[in-house]
Amino acid sequence: MKLNIAVLPGDGIGPEIVEQAMKAVKAVCGKFGHELSYEQALVGAIAIDETGNPYPDATHELCMKSDAVLFGAIGSPKYDNDPSAKIRPEQGLLGMRKKLGLYANIRPVTTFPSLIHKSPLRSDLVEGADFMCIRELTGGMYFGRPPGRSEDRNTAYDTCIYTREEVERIVRLAYQYAEKRRKKVAIVDKANVLATSRLWREVSQEIEKEYPQIETEYMFVDNAAMRIIQWPKSFDVMVTENMFGDILTDEASVITGSLGVLPSASIGIHTSVFEPIHGSYPQAAGKNIANPLATILSAALMFEYAFNLMEEGKLIRDAVTASMDAEVVTEDIAEQGKAYSTSEVGDWIAEFISKQ
Ligand code: IPM
Ligand code: MN
Repeated sequence: MKLNIAVLPGDGIGPEIVEQAMKAVKAVCGKFGHELSYEQALVGAIAIDETGNPYPDATHELCMKSDAVLFGAIGSPKYDNDPSAKIRPEQGLLGMRKKLGLYANIRPVTTFPSLIHKSPLRSDLVEGADFMCIRELTGGMYFGRPPGRSEDRNTAYDTCIYTREEVERIVRLAYQYAEKRRKKVAIVDKANVLATSRLWREVSQEIEKEYPQIETEYMFVDNAAMRIIQWPKSFDVMVTENMFGDILTDEASVITGSLGVLPSASIGIHTSVFEPIHGSYPQAAGKNIANPLATILSAALMFEYAFNLMEEGKLIRDAVTASMDAEVVTEDIAEQGKAYSTSEVGDWIAEFISKQ
């Protein structure tokens, strides 16, 4: 098969981790005889520095003509510490999501036996936890009416907006995934306070009727946050709006032992994007210490979701599990004094793949 990939390393540790994921991608393509072509493009703070635009038109054009996008991370302390900056790296990521119509962000939360002891939770609570968080990605407060400030600049506002159509398509997607899994959907909102959440609940109650074989649970977001740490195994598919999903998935990722192992797939109207859920971790940039596993696992999702190449995806996942079992891991999950570098982990995984 011919695979045409856009590679967007972005900022901070982005370039290093994407480089490792590409080693795995090349190894898999070599093994299965796929013809790989890829091109890199700018996004984030580096794109602002070089072009003045965090998501340049050239990058968008490349994404549009590619079969899949592999994305690293964006963000830079230069902008984090300057709330007055008009152009921000995050606008690059948000602009890309909007322009590619990526309304669904799929974040699978799975545990790895050799990582359980790193979880902040008791292992009996975490062992076997396996759920999928579906985060709405192009609506809500992130994209509501233009945010603003009052004339005296002492008041600021963001607006959360959802349309029936936006809710419908994402909730329906959640049910479709639940059908292929353990047939449970948790719809997470704040319907006791927010009008948008009441719309979510209203629409969800209609869709629920179309899927009588699926068990539906409605849950307020504060309660869901608690349940993720108290009883993570109770979830199968969770669906929620943009901001709630952003927060809950960071929480969900650490119960597995590290934020550095959670991948994601953003799907929708145009080309899908595959990216780790963690950020650009600027403190580690260039030090060859960042954990590349979330990006490598995002590459696995890319084979499965964008190309329907399930065996290829599984091989990458097996290689990641094997690297953990062999303790070839970076310092965030290594035992004291036994850490490998980012590139060593990438090389080990690519070699494992080639040897199978
Ligand atoms: C994520 C990130 C982004 C988000 C930031 C970088 C804009 O935190 O992908 O979860 O908030 O969506
Ligand atoms: Mn986030």
